Amino acid sequence: MPFPERFLWGGATSSYQIEGNVETDGAGPSIFEPFCRRPGAVFGGHSGSVACDHYRRFAGDVGLMGQIGLRAYRFSVSWPRVIPGGVGRVNESGLAFYDRLVDALLGAGIQPWLTLYHWDFPQALQTQGGWLNRDSADWFAEYAGVVVDRLSDRVQHWMTINEPQVYIKFGHADAKIAPGLRLSLEEQLLACHNTLRAHGRAVQVIRARAKRSPTVGWAVVGRTDFPASESEADVEAARRGMMEIREPDLWNNTWYADPVIQGTYPEDGLRVYRAAGASLPTVGAGDMEVISQRLDFYGVNIYDGRCIRSGADGSPEVVPFPSGHPQNAFRWFVTPPALRWGPRFLHERYQLPIYITENGFAGLDWVATDGGVHDPQRIDYTRRYLLELGRAITDGADVRGYFHWSLLDNFEWAEGYSQRFGLIHVDFATQKRTLKDSAHWYRGVIESNGRTLSS
Ligand code: FCB
Repeated sequence: MPFPERFLWGGATSSYQIEGNVETDGAGPSIFEPFCRRPGAVFGGHSGSVACDHYRRFAGDVGLMGQIGLRAYRFSVSWPRVIPGGVGRVNESGLAFYDRLVDALLGAGIQPWLTLYHWDFPQALQTQGGWLNRDSADWFAEYAGVVVDRLSDRVQHWMTINEPQVYIKFGHADAKIAPGLRLSLEEQLLACHNTLRAHGRAVQVIRARAKRSPTVGWAVVGRTDFPASESEADVEAARRGMMEIREPDLWNNTWYADPVIQGTYPEDGLRVYRAAGASLPTVGAGDMEVISQRLDFYGVNIYDGRCIRSGADGSPEVVPFPSGHPQNAFRWFVTPPALRWGPRFLHERYQLPIYITENGFAGLDWVATDGGVHDPQRIDYTRRYLLELGRAITDGADVRGYFHWSLLDNFEWAEGYSQRFGLIHVDFATQKRTLKDSAHWYRGVIESNGRTLSS
């Protein structure tokens, strides 16, 4: 089997999506509190205020992770739980929660993989401009320092930010998630520039202050393209599709990753954004150096991809999926080759070890009369994707781990609780957890280091 001996098998969640208790024990509000109260913003008027009540039930949840046999668990820290006003006074009970969580994980033999920011920005700082304020990088560095000082004697694996593409585009342009803004391209570029500076500052803080030698990365998303065939022309077209900036929006890979890993904004992006009339953010002295701190790994979240063939002049052309092509409950297409070509192209361009920090399936799961939760589609989806990930490794991409999204059914942003991604079913009325068939299946994958995938 292609999976190397030390391949890391994990599961992932994020604070706002599972913790609930958003203003409990001194926590401050995040931008999702006012956002979820906006009429029509979230399916059914749902919010994360209760979610999976993980804040109180974490010990049981760690027990369930043990039952699945997870080797690693990716979670995020809620910034306003730790610093209610975003900067300044630290909320001891908020920090103590993460202490207990980390201790429980280590006690169960599960590596904690900590994301500093998974979208729950402190509301108190949003009123000061949020990511549009140049000080946001300092605010984030201060927060990172508090978390690092407290947890880095036990946490070694760090991710700075989750999917900036999503919160810049869907939060700052399309108003689909908090903070629910519709900003100009110019302002989106500014929010992005400050996000990248915040990322770099956090990397510096982690490296300077961690008590145990850290591994540092991020968890980004973007566009994944795979070739319609293995012909050189199609492969090159898919590579270009994935790495070129053609549209004047912030949904791409390279506007984020080139500055972070190569220290410069990509030329094509500069051209496209300028042509769209946006003046680019002022790059302060030293900004690019801050942004391009060395990373130990490239974390990427991949759910689906576009199929690309080489057009007449060799440029990328999208091949539409045939009618009836498999989809998840979200109507996202099921595209296993995304997990072969995505990591391959990213590894090729950025030369960093890759971790799949999220991949998973939204299904219409419920508890059956026999008490089980039967989710054959999630199993089949994951099997197909992991087989393709194995091919990426065989092809030479340095892929070191896979985190399934998600451990638990949870608050799926604008979709509220209507989309279930968990390996574990949650009855939101009673908080009862039930391991789905996929959780039992995943246990076998982990135990056999992927060998059961082809059986
Ligand atoms: C990703 C997010 C994660 C979850 C999955 C389904 O975009 O990082 O929080 O919502 O999608």
